Amino acid sequence: MTARTDTVKTSFAIREATELDAGTIAELLAHLGYPASRAEVEDRLGRLGIASDSVAFVAESRAGVLGVVTGHVFASLHVTPVVAWLTTLVVSSGNEKKGIGRTLVGAVEEWARGRRAVRISVTLGFHREAAHEFYEHMGYQRTGVRLTRALMGTTARPAS
Ligand SMILES: CC(C)(COP(=O)(O)OP(=O)(O)OC[C@H]1O[C@@H](n2cnc3c(N)ncnc32)[C@H](O)[C@@H]1OP(=O)(O)O)[C@@H](O)C(=O)NCCC(=O)NCCS
Repeated sequence: MTARTDTVKTSFAIREATELDAGTIAELLAHLGYPASRAEVEDRLGRLGIASDSVAFVAESRAGVLGVVTGHVFASLHVTPVVAWLTTLVVSSGNEKKGIGRTLVGAVEEWARGRRAVRISVTLGFHREAAHEFYEHMGYQRTGVRLTRALMGTTARPAS
């Protein structure tokens, strides 16, 4: 999967993330506000990699990895078809507005369609106003509210 954006002359390709990407992805997660060590990310990627209901894609140029996204499909009881969730999405600082986010979202959507998911959702923190606008621009609609409760006695920060 390759995307080219003529206006900014940045060319990048989308591929599935591997554990070798752990260091760069750790930097991207820090940019997103979720600092993690390389070893932690390596472990998480390993767990994603063995689950066919989850995926991680990176956008990569000759300069290296520029962004990452993860996706998941879920079965549920109240509807028969599986549904998809897009979770982590982050583009490296200085590489925004070059079409990387759009292409990463498209990659997860295509992957989820391939798993027969009938819809895809994303949850976002209130503070990510720019990302709200990005997703709405991408055709995502506000359809609900996320409520979160910590289960382990700590203040568990919700994803995104
Ligand atoms: C949000 C984010 C992923 C967008 O990625 P990006 O690579 O900059 O976005 P793209 O260049 O692919 O933009 C795709 C389209 O959305 C538009 N867009 C991008 N950011 C936008 C914004 N803040 N508001 C409105 N539109 C926006 C672009 O203009 C572009 O429009 P076009 O294709 O019609 O010309 C990126 O800015 C980012 O990593 N932000 C910090 C982390 C974050 O908030 N992640 C989301 C939480 S999960």
